[in-house]
Amino acid sequence: MTRQSKFLETLSGDVQAIPPIWFMRQAGRYLPEYREVRAKAGSFLDLCFNPELASEVTLQPIRRFDLDAAILFADILLIPHAMGQKLWFEEGEGPRLAPVISPQNIDQFRSQDVLEKLAPVFETMKMTRAELSDDKALIGFAGAPWTVATYMLAGGSMRDPAALREWYYREPAFITDLIELLSDITIEYLNAQIEAGADAVQLFDTWAGGLPWPVLDAVSVRPLDKIARGVKKAHPEIPVILFPKSVGEKAGEYATLAACDGLSIDYGMDPSWARAHLSGHTVVQGGLDPLVVIEGGERMEQAAETLLKLFHDVPYVFNLGHGFTPATPPEHVATLVKYIRKERK
Ligand code: CP3
Repeated sequence: MTRQSKFLETLSGDVQAIPPIWFMRQAGRYLPEYREVRAKAGSFLDLCFNPELASEVTLQPIRRFDLDAAILFADILLIPHAMGQKLWFEEGEGPRLAPVISPQNIDQFRSQDVLEKLAPVFETMKMTRAELSDDKALIGFAGAPWTVATYMLAGGSMRDPAALREWYYREPAFITDLIELLSDITIEYLNAQIEAGADAVQLFDTWAGGLPWPVLDAVSVRPLDKIARGVKKAHPEIPVILFPKSVGEKAGEYATLAACDGLSIDYGMDPSWARAHLSGHTVVQGGLDPLVVIEGGERMEQAAETLLKLFHDVPYVFNLGHGFTPATPPEHVATLVKYIRKERK
């Protein structure tokens, strides 16, 4: 590691009196300066593919809160978009993808030059790394194959998680094929992000929760292991963080993977369980319920204190248990950062 970064030092095992801080969805609609750039860019996709503006919004939360790491401004759905599914966002409805992927049309999504279409993302990474000071880390990311597949299969946010389990039981060969295709593309995509300047990468498996074990192992644990190993093979020094949301005690299956350097815990997980069962295997990150930041005040500080106390003697990265929502007052975020950084023994 050439960079003197609190975040990277923690991921390599250092215990810090004050942990490094970054937040999921730290760039986004809760920030007025984001909304301003977003309006200038046109659509969300136009913003993701405009390196100058995407780099600007990546840096906004670093400037405002002096966080220890920036996360590239992009989206997990850029991969399906680059594979040939049209992506758009409908007000109040979230993302839409068309045509939906099926056993009949999967071949048309194989042949696309995905990395070439995502070239602006790598340009954003380069521009951002050049702007960031040496003590700040830059995080690259991708969606986990299962989570990305749920959007590709549903044509948007899935309304009924049972429908996707049914897909898996009905068409296991197709789902396995799709997960495999996404895993291979994701390895290349993350390696290209690293070559453009990412200091660490995170994989978001937002929809891993609620899957019965053999299915979770097949669609989430194994693919994330494969991707993490694919990244490590090309870039052994780059830390890989996994965020398998709402998997409960199955988080242990991820934490013990040799290629897992960090495990981000969701707000539903008992942090003392995480301290007892995960911290010995990997660096734990996160856990704070983003909704307590909307509330702010003492409840927010107490929730932060619980995490800081539990993890004070192990390497720990301060973060949320999921992303900020647009209702989050930025002043509460500033108070939270100040609270975490107040003098601690
Ligand atoms: O600051 C950051 O965290 C970096 C950028 C980032 C975004 N999305 C920007 C974004 C990251 C890391 C993501 C990940 C992402 N995207 C996930 C995994 C993590 C999670 O939140 O569960 C998922 C499932 C998506 C898919 C996605 N993108 C959805 C469901 C939506 C719509 C929901 C919403 O809030 O509108 C998006 C849009 C999106 N991605 C926005 C942002 C800032 C809001 C778009 C806008 O400006 O209108």
